[in-house]
Amino acid sequence: MASYSFLRVAVSFIFIVTYVFANDTLYFPKDFLLGTATAAYQIEGGWNESGKGESVWDWWTHENPSLIRDGSNGDVACDSLHKYKEDVQLLSDLGVDFYRFSISWPRILPTGYANVINQEGLNYYKNLINELLAKDIKPFVTLYHWDHPEIFERMGGWTNEMMVEWISDYARVVFKELGPKVKYFMSINEPNVLCGEGYGENVKAPGKNLGSPGVFLCMHNVLKAHAKIYHIYDKEFRKYQEGTIGIVLPCSGALPKNPNDTAAVNMHFQFNCGWIAHAIFSKTGDYPEIMKTHVADNSKLAGFSKSLLPELSSEWVQYIKGTSDFFGLNHYTSKIVETVPRMKGEGWYDFSGVKQSIDPSWPKSASDWLRVVPDGFREIIKKISKEYDNPPIYVMENGFSDKCCTFDHLRISYLYSYIKAMLLAIYEDGCNVKAYAVWSLLDNFEWGAGYTERFGLVNVNFTDSNRTRTPKWSTIWYKNIIATRKLTSIFNLPTAISVL
Ligand SMILES: *[C@@H]1O[C@H](CO)[C@@H](O)[C@H](O)[C@H]1NC(C)=O
Ligand SMILES: *[C@@H]1O[C@H](CO)[C@@H](O)[C@H](O)[C@H]1NC(C)=O
Ligand SMILES: *[C@@H]1O[C@H](CO)[C@@H](O)[C@H](O)[C@H]1NC(C)=O
Ligand SMILES: *[C@@H]1O[C@H](CO)[C@@H](O)[C@H](O)[C@H]1NC(C)=O
Repeated sequence: MASYSFLRVAVSFIFIVTYVFANDTLYFPKDFLLGTATAAYQIEGGWNESGKGESVWDWWTHENPSLIRDGSNGDVACDSLHKYKEDVQLLSDLGVDFYRFSISWPRILPTGYANVINQEGLNYYKNLINELLAKDIKPFVTLYHWDHPEIFERMGGWTNEMMVEWISDYARVVFKELGPKVKYFMSINEPNVLCGEGYGENVKAPGKNLGSPGVFLCMHNVLKAHAKIYHIYDKEFRKYQEGTIGIVLPCSGALPKNPNDTAAVNMHFQFNCGWIAHAIFSKTGDYPEIMKTHVADNSKLAGFSKSLLPELSSEWVQYIKGTSDFFGLNHYTSKIVETVPRMKGEGWYDFSGVKQSIDPSWPKSASDWLRVVPDGFREIIKKISKEYDNPPIYVMENGFSDKCCTFDHLRISYLYSYIKAMLLAIYEDGCNVKAYAVWSLLDNFEWGAGYTERFGLVNVNFTDSNRTRTPKWSTIWYKNIIATRKLTSIFNLPTAISVL
């Protein structure tokens, strides 16, 4: 214990010395919102409590423990179902403006359908929202973060267009019951990850392994579902609730391998971010033109009578266009991209015609897919702003994984460099970024990685039945950023001393 304290003092001395000489202060714009984010299945636990029904993640992790790196699941997770007051106290200590969390659909509707509303489940979220509001923290509510009722999966899940109706009924219940106290809603989190890893592959629930046709179909239905949810809010609730609603898209950055290969950057963007974003945020709507052409070319060469990319009727194009009040952006990392020349008689490489790689010198995290590339964050913010006429951007996830430990200086370094890149995009490039959330408040169930990769500002002891929470150094650092509304590379002196 004594040597640990000595280490803390020694390290903080280094931080303080650095602070004295650091002179790179950037302020956040007035009214900029700072927060943190979580998702229901990753933190709540209580998978069979409070009258909750089975979700596709309950089913998949129980059936396939070998597909989770440590064989774990979210049955208990951070036990936030019981410890939400402690979570809100942590948020209050941090001083955040908002907390982004998601609602478990089967906790509110145990049969999946809106015919049975589970009051106990609903009360959990009402209590959480009341607790947040009492501490002056704005609730940012995600309706769907991948954990739909298992019953619907047995009917095809997102490959069945009926999901559009089922999730709309659920959304209506949430708006009616929770909407009066919520001003910020998000419809669906990261369609590409859900459809790519859950339907195309067997990496996330429901692990359907359907390949590209399944991914295209899933994305098509998710896009329609989002638009319908938006219109329900817009027509039936907005007038009384006066809130905003948007979608959250995962957009990785792209840096060209050859500086002159801007085509690769654009194609990478259109096939990832643009797939859904173009239909919602562009002036013309619909899928990106380049995507329609490339997928049609490849489908034809593979002998299909129609493109694997389903067609959106002009009615759907109009219905989907403009259905997001803000651009919800999740961003973690970037890739190096290069155009692959198309060979005679062959299709486009990976549909897009772009090969992705990484620069081995980019600093690592605990996640294979996550390298530290702050410049890519600035570039993607600029690209979104340019493509879609400078929409308000809410960064709803950004964060860094490590394996353990509360002295998380690599997380601080990551967050510092990424927030700096974002502020430069605002001040130097004129981008309209309005909010930023660190992923995540707590170490939690990191999907296929189980509990082996930790993203929290707060450490959770998963071997302790109490799921004891211990703030990491990044908590102290972020608390100071929020309190001073300025970005500094290290601690502010009084905060560091008061915590030591
Ligand atoms: C809930 O699930 C746990 C396993 O996570 C099990 O031990 C318990 O008996 C279940 N409770 C009910 C009420 O089914
Ligand atoms: C781009 O630059 C590379 C080398 O840096 C060169 O080989 C290539 O021909 C250039 N391409 C174009 C389109 O100018
Ligand atoms: C976590 O909790 C367990 C059980 O209470 C305890 O034995 C262990 O020391 C704790 N780990 C840490 C790092 O505090
Ligand atoms: C768990 O929490 C309870 C109540 O807060 C406390 O009495 C108990 O000592 C804690 N157990 C551990 C192992 O920390």
